[in-house]
Amino acid sequence: EPPPSGGPEGLVFEPIDQQTGDAFVVPDGYVPHIVIRWGDPLFSDAAEFDPANQTAEGQARQFGYNNDHVGLFELEDGQFLMVVNHEYTDETLMFPAYDAASPTEAQVATAWAAHGLSVVTLRGEDSGALTPVLDAPLNRRLTATTEFELTGPAAGSQHLQTSADPEGRTVLGTLNNCAGGLTPWGTWLTAEENFNQYFANSSAVTDPTAQERLVRYGATEGASERLWETFDPRFDLAQEPNEINRFGWIVEVDPFDPSSTPRKRTALGRFKHEAATINIAEDGRAVAYMGDDEVFDYLYKFVSDGVYVEGDDANNATLLDSGTLYVARFTGDSPAAEIDGVGTLPEDGEFDGSGEWIPLVSGTTSHVPGMSAEEVLIFTRQAGDAVGATRMDRPEDVEPSPATGRVYVACTNNTDRVEGEAEVDEANPRFDNKDGHVIEIVEENEDAGATAFAWRILLVCGSPDDPSTYFAGFDKSQVSTISCPDNLAFDPAGNLWISTDGQPDSVGWNDALYQVPLEGDLRGQVRQFLAVPTGAETCGPVVTEDRVIVAVQHPGEIDGASFESPASNWPDGGSSVPRPSVVVTAARAGEEPTEGPTEEP
Ligand code: FEO
Ligand code: CA
Ligand code: CA
Ligand code: CA
Repeated sequence: EPPPSGGPEGLVFEPIDQQTGDAFVVPDGYVPHIVIRWGDPLFSDAAEFDPANQTAEGQARQFGYNNDHVGLFELEDGQFLMVVNHEYTDETLMFPAYDAASPTEAQVATAWAAHGLSVVTLRGEDSGALTPVLDAPLNRRLTATTEFELTGPAAGSQHLQTSADPEGRTVLGTLNNCAGGLTPWGTWLTAEENFNQYFANSSAVTDPTAQERLVRYGATEGASERLWETFDPRFDLAQEPNEINRFGWIVEVDPFDPSSTPRKRTALGRFKHEAATINIAEDGRAVAYMGDDEVFDYLYKFVSDGVYVEGDDANNATLLDSGTLYVARFTGDSPAAEIDGVGTLPEDGEFDGSGEWIPLVSGTTSHVPGMSAEEVLIFTRQAGDAVGATRMDRPEDVEPSPATGRVYVACTNNTDRVEGEAEVDEANPRFDNKDGHVIEIVEENEDAGATAFAWRILLVCGSPDDPSTYFAGFDKSQVSTISCPDNLAFDPAGNLWISTDGQPDSVGWNDALYQVPLEGDLRGQVRQFLAVPTGAETCGPVVTEDRVIVAVQHPGEIDGASFESPASNWPDGGSSVPRPSVVVTAARAGEEPTEGPTEEP
């Protein structure tokens, strides 16, 4: 049945307006249901959530803090397996009377337990709600102290050895997991992003080469923000200079085997990984697309040596340990003089051009002069510098469309691209890019394994009143404002969904989730579906035929807010502390939304 009013296929809704309140807002005809909150139990023996008296032991059996990536596997009998990572902790909001200059050991240990990963079995309800199943056999918590294994060509490297792990293969914990992806072979990829913030005293490292590497990865010269080094010397670079090298990886988790040790896949390189999403090349090789979320950093892809074989778990478990890591170089097709840094389209009507995937390393063979293979894998940013990769405006999620294979890159923003200090190029065409943009890549011969591609900018974000914005050529009078694109997802009809991180600062509205058709007359029509409460970021979108799931991350994270004086009371209301939570939105039970989408122009 065609959608009414010529609207896009997929969920039918009237876009909501920009929001500024402390509320989770959805379109008419839809109802949000909380799935799980920080501190909710995964097991019946978990301590009851008591915000003033959280303990490490209790937290390790409860849902962690700051949910970011969400992945959903469909199980039998109307159940789902949800995987969620917990990027970081905000101690000021979590703990009463928190003294940032002198945290207690109990607070630090609780924060370790609130980091990491959760695997939660959910029961689907007729209302569309999703309810956690306590004690389900696949439920699992992994924290900053759980054992992880380093695998692939750099495992065992001298740069990964520590006094606790002289073999360089066993790491305690995963930190700052941002977004991620699910693989066709039923595993979960989760990405270690701003790991640098947990390590202290880089200035104590005197070797010039080691120092240069630490600077390139943004290591902290003195004390770390959370002072974890006070309670565990592995966070002190003066004592353990290599511990930091054991973070910044893509982690592969088998959520269907709760006894499995997750693997940090060194073949995919080390940087501030936003996410990793998989497509399969024409010849069956697995391709992982990845962004390094830093101003002026790079876009990468990994292509496996082996081929994906449906159902062959033993084969597929080896795919991400052996292959070639590439970095992207974008070349515009318009004269440089036409790229004015304000956003006026070039004379050919588009920001577009060609690109190449530059090989950095294949297994134990380096393609970068002056760097060994293990150096390329562990200090990947410097390999990208050496080959002249394109300096991007903070590449966050990079996701191939399951419908078309075209790859979408969310460049969230870059206000450091200052006129007079930095250049613009056709792929990053705006100075002071506070609103970000989204790039669409078409691999050569539509083959994910290709080493060349074509590209064009899909969206130059911001208010449609801003003349530098561009919505794939769509009529700007009929689009929603969008700024700071971060996480991407696709619905079963092939529409792109974009969640944002940073709108309160860039445009003055709460962060949100948007739908964007990619095909036909409505291509580029950005429409807002939901908004998250005060201080929150919208993460982890999953869009099915009848549900929209998001992770509401860091509600109430506003300058000056604290446990005693919260800036948000979402979701529990009253004077409660804010709780990062996963929310599912579904059409009101027993009622299909009747409002049609926006009229065609
Ligand atoms: Fe954790 Fe790049 O956002
Ligand atoms: Ca052009
Ligand atoms: Ca993110
Ligand atoms: Ca972000």
